[in-house]
Amino acid sequence: MFLKNSWYVAGWSNEIQRSLTQRWIIGEPLVLYRTQAGKVVALTDRCPHRRAALSKGNLIGDTVQCGYHGVTLDCSGACVAIPGQQQIPPSMKVRTYPVVEKWQWIWVWMGDPEAADESLIPDFRYNSEPGWVSTGGCIDVKANYQLLTDNLLDLTHETYVHTRTIGTNEIVETPMTQRVEGNEVHVQRIIKNAPPPPLFSRVRKLEGNIDRWQVIRFQPPASVTIDARAYPAGTDDLERGLRWFSVNTITPVDARTSKYYWTITRCFAQDDAEVTKTIHDSIYTTFMEDVEVLEAQQIMIDTDDSMKAEVGVRADGGSVAARRIVEKLVKQQSTALAS
Ligand code: FES
Ligand SMILES: [Fe+2]
Repeated sequence: MFLKNSWYVAGWSNEIQRSLTQRWIIGEPLVLYRTQAGKVVALTDRCPHRRAALSKGNLIGDTVQCGYHGVTLDCSGACVAIPGQQQIPPSMKVRTYPVVEKWQWIWVWMGDPEAADESLIPDFRYNSEPGWVSTGGCIDVKANYQLLTDNLLDLTHETYVHTRTIGTNEIVETPMTQRVEGNEVHVQRIIKNAPPPPLFSRVRKLEGNIDRWQVIRFQPPASVTIDARAYPAGTDDLERGLRWFSVNTITPVDARTSKYYWTITRCFAQDDAEVTKTIHDSIYTTFMEDVEVLEAQQIMIDTDDSMKAEVGVRADGGSVAARRIVEKLVKQQSTALAS
């Protein structure tokens, strides 16, 4: 079961314009568009007449005309026209969802509109902070969203999956520390005096060994930022080092499909387009390595009828804590709905 009372990314700000776009979020179909005044609207993408997809219809002014029999709805979801009749039944309407544009993304609140609280949008300020340059993308993944958050909360896998870009042996040899703060999980690993991974050397001239920081912050249900730093070993000199935020938020499409929105936002070589391209292409390749593992893992989960429990290891700490938080919030939501 998904957390409904939550913000999910429905797309990049520049993706939603003056046309109808369909997006599925936590198993619900949405149609998104921008009004003439520039405000993004999200409505249920299911016509109240015969359930045709509204996104296949037409955007006329700020209204959506169903492409099947012409029922027309305004941006509050209310019906404003039914061809051939004056009378509009009160139930001829669709739901409208609260929408906020922030940190380059369009966020949709999937739960009770009364509970929509903008301050619950994850803190992704580095996507648009002055002095920082970001590059990113969105990857369609055939796996449950929590396989992705598990992956981001345990970077031990970098040693095995990402040897060509950000993986080194020292990662797995350095223990992580972890703490839970309210509904957030913080995981930290500081690798001292180790050779830089290949991608760091490609984008930054790092001479000799580095101290490498991986400071991870999880915000429910599925947002993870990684503050990644590399200092010349034994120093705190960022002028000669590297720092970027890996910003990740996963939108569940349904139980087995996800949209993985990501950016890497850095505070060095801001004007160097070549560096941006190298980071973009290398991180995309890196994430596709994850996707290959996770999609194969999802098939193994789906086809396992042995009922055997998974066997945990110490490095699971962060992902287990994150799953517990989501489980708690989903339980609270079910209790609230039942009362
Ligand atoms: S299904 Fe939309 S108008 Fe008939
Ligand atoms: Fe990875």
